[in-house]
Amino acid sequence: MTNADLHLQNLTKTYGSVQALTDFSHRFEAGKVHALIGKNGSGKSTFVKMLSGATRPTSGQIMLGDKPLSFDDPAAALAEGIVTVYQELSLVPQLSVAENIFLGRLPKRRGTGLIDWRGLRRRAADLLAQMGISNIDPSAPVASLSVGKQQIVEIVKAMSLSPRILQLDEPTASLAQAEVQQLFNVVKTLREKGVTVIYISHRLAELAQIADSVVALRDGTFIGAVPIAEAKSEVILDMMFGPVAHAEKVERKIDASKIALRVKGLKLGTLLEDVSFELRHGEVLGIAGMLGSGRTEILRAIFGAGPMDAGDIEIDGAKVPKVTLAEMKKRGVGYASEDRKVDGLVQMLSSHANLCLAARSRIAPGGIATLGREKPFVAQQIKDLAIKIGDPMAPVSSLSGGNQQKVVVGNWLNDKPRIMLFDEPGRGVDVQAKRQIYEIIWAQADRGLSSIVVSTELEDLVECCDRILILREGRIAGEFINSNLDPKQLYAACMTATTN
Ligand SMILES: Nc1ncnc2c1ncn2[C@@H]1O[C@H](COP(=O)(O)OP(=O)(O)OP(=O)(O)O)[C@@H](O)[C@H]1O
Ligand SMILES: [Mg+2]
Repeated sequence: MTNADLHLQNLTKTYGSVQALTDFSHRFEAGKVHALIGKNGSGKSTFVKMLSGATRPTSGQIMLGDKPLSFDDPAAALAEGIVTVYQELSLVPQLSVAENIFLGRLPKRRGTGLIDWRGLRRRAADLLAQMGISNIDPSAPVASLSVGKQQIVEIVKAMSLSPRILQLDEPTASLAQAEVQQLFNVVKTLREKGVTVIYISHRLAELAQIADSVVALRDGTFIGAVPIAEAKSEVILDMMFGPVAHAEKVERKIDASKIALRVKGLKLGTLLEDVSFELRHGEVLGIAGMLGSGRTEILRAIFGAGPMDAGDIEIDGAKVPKVTLAEMKKRGVGYASEDRKVDGLVQMLSSHANLCLAARSRIAPGGIATLGREKPFVAQQIKDLAIKIGDPMAPVSSLSGGNQQKVVVGNWLNDKPRIMLFDEPGRGVDVQAKRQIYEIIWAQADRGLSSIVVSTELEDLVECCDRILILREGRIAGEFINSNLDPKQLYAACMTATTN
């Protein structure tokens, strides 16, 4: 296949008074992988949506070779071979993996209008096998898969559409290392076939493995593009943020004798087996483990939001007789979930309303919430977390992905919890904003907040946590005190258990 360069001329998008992208001009060379980087809210997804036909440019032009592209809807972009995997997953949870991959083009039995279910499963299985994926069952409902596996299904679906241009908006945000490698292999195969790839990621360390060039946006403006060989990490950070100072993590002293939360003998089916650990007062405790190792299930069980077959939870030395969501919330436990689209945020509600959900009874003690009472709570989080927000009364769905994540965190911090469970708090958040979130967690920890943090990115755990547990094959298989810990040590431990 010969493919043409993608050429942008003064591409501009405004949403009301928000200038999401301004005069973006650049030539993306055909058959290369172009990493598109920029901090949260810099306009990356906005560009993706214009190229995918999801939204129209306010002005400017997109050319594929000599041909101007103008799409009324995503179907028109697909017809040109422009395939997009969005930042927010778009699968239908009730349908199977195979149905999702072939949605809208299910194979029919010859001579009938009936769906060829067996053919469908076989074709889906073939596609999965081509990508070397053996741990996803084509007949499984998507709802039963982890977020990481759902992301892989999205990508398999994109592959099956034979793209000329493939846009991946943060495809690795919820993938573990092994899955990332799987994805990179697929992307490389596509590049060999001449496909142009636009690759968005906040995981800057991975870019060298996959990208040919790095293209940077800052606050809606094109900053520059460099070949990957020149894209040293200082160059990338400079392009993203301009010159900014990077603070060092301070090592904190934790009193090991004061226990805020104790988990004893937690068991869940075949996934978790005798998980026992303690969270110390004022500590930030990380849990590291491969995708599907049961990290999220531990948090959900502690919060009373998910099942446990056996196990006890103690708070401040007292056993919680019945672990339910209401009970745990009453005892000062908060949970910022991993999937902001499903149970983190109410998409139709404003950012303002989303920031006041968890702290309802604190904001309106008598049950009567007024804007006047809510506003300081909202303003506090917008300021503390530096949330990039136009109008707090606009739907939260209009925020960029990373800023939505900050709203999830801010909502819980407003409730002043004593124990906070963070599931992937840095997902989709740029490195500077992540740091802001961690600094908030530390500041709260100094005032007595005890937190558990789960993250797929081991670098993040090393940056954020005082102590890190390794979860392997359903058990706590190791423990690291974080003193100049190398993420590679953690990675090795997740594969085979060790301790420092
Ligand atoms: N539908 C919309 N209505 C109003 N503003 C919007 C809308 N979509 C995006 N914006 C704004 O446009 C700006 C750019 O957002 P965009 O989603 O492109 O950022 P991004 O670079 O993808 O960020 P992230 O890394 O956080 O995903 C942000 O300020 C965002 O709030
Ligand atoms: Mg985005």
